Amino acid sequence: ESYDMGGHDTYMHKEIAEQPEAVDRVLRGRIDDRFATVRLGGLNLDARAARGVRRVKILGCGSAYHAGLIGAQMIEELARIPADAEPASEFRYRNAVVDPDTLYIATSQSGETYDTLAAVQELKRKGAMVLGVVNVVGSAIARETDGGVYVHAGPEVCVVSTKCFTNTAVAFALLALHLGRIRDLSVADGKRIIEGLRRLPEQIGEILREEDRIAKLAAELAESRSMMFVGRVRGFPVAKEASLKLKEVSYIHAEAYPASELKHGPLALVEPAVPTVAIMPTDELLEKNRATLEEIKARSGRILAVAHEEQPKADSTIVVPRNEPELDPVLMGIPLQLLAYHTALALGRDIDKPRNLAKSVTVE
Ligand code: AGP
Repeated sequence: ESYDMGGHDTYMHKEIAEQPEAVDRVLRGRIDDRFATVRLGGLNLDARAARGVRRVKILGCGSAYHAGLIGAQMIEELARIPADAEPASEFRYRNAVVDPDTLYIATSQSGETYDTLAAVQELKRKGAMVLGVVNVVGSAIARETDGGVYVHAGPEVCVVSTKCFTNTAVAFALLALHLGRIRDLSVADGKRIIEGLRRLPEQIGEILREEDRIAKLAAELAESRSMMFVGRVRGFPVAKEASLKLKEVSYIHAEAYPASELKHGPLALVEPAVPTVAIMPTDELLEKNRATLEEIKARSGRILAVAHEEQPKADSTIVVPRNEPELDPVLMGIPLQLLAYHTALALGRDIDKPRNLAKSVTVE
């Protein structure tokens, strides 16, 4: 990993391309096949303390918050601990009830985001247990937390987060597996997730090889006035992140909604000039998502599906390789980073330095 552009025209492109190696790095040396779990040396949370955790609350801003939403779902699914994520910027202003049995986790690429750091400091002052899921080693949030997991994405230069988002989601999968195996996750499920994690770098590479096709789709979408991103449960945080990515780098307005919420209002926006990107893995919610596509088609909306198989109701489908369902969000986010990148490129945007934004927001 270096600051050299290595033949890429932008850092964003370089950082998207680096993801197979970056994910390999977050996994390296951590898998413990003997006990079907992972070793997370810096966690400072022994098995007894981990068993005492009644809730998990993840705090972060922007893309880190979205990775936290994915992490919360993984922790609920694999460790069966109630978990949620909240923007750190909201949490710190709402005089939240700080519960001694809750494990708080602050997540940040830079480790210097002021809102996240302020939330950590307030939690620590109140005696809470706070871990960090952080990229920059030795950063303020890494120092102020009781322990944590480094995401090892390497230096991320582009203002728009890509590889760190992906690696943070994988770091949360490791943490969820670790907590799960201390609690009720079976050896068989532990092995299943480990095998899934090992497949990720190669599968990310497969998605990246679809770049030319994604670039063509992006060139068509660049004409859009606005875009909708929808997904259910595991697909929803992916929709939120993809919508943020597109907005930041292309300046096209975008909205992210749970697919199930469309009929409660946002369906009014659907028309030919407002295409929808639907994140729809082949899981127990596929039929529900297909019904959503029909609702959109009935309003003449164009649809791009991100799915495990061609979706006949969609105008186009980006097919993503299958992994274990809990890890779907990691892979489904990757083509949407390329989509945002190529949309911005088609519009001639300043990709590495989008207007009005800074890489890390270290002030109030
Ligand atoms: C991501 O593309 C953003 N530029 C932004 O939302 C970022 O994730 C947020 O500011 C948090 O930064 P951090 O991860 O360094 O704390």
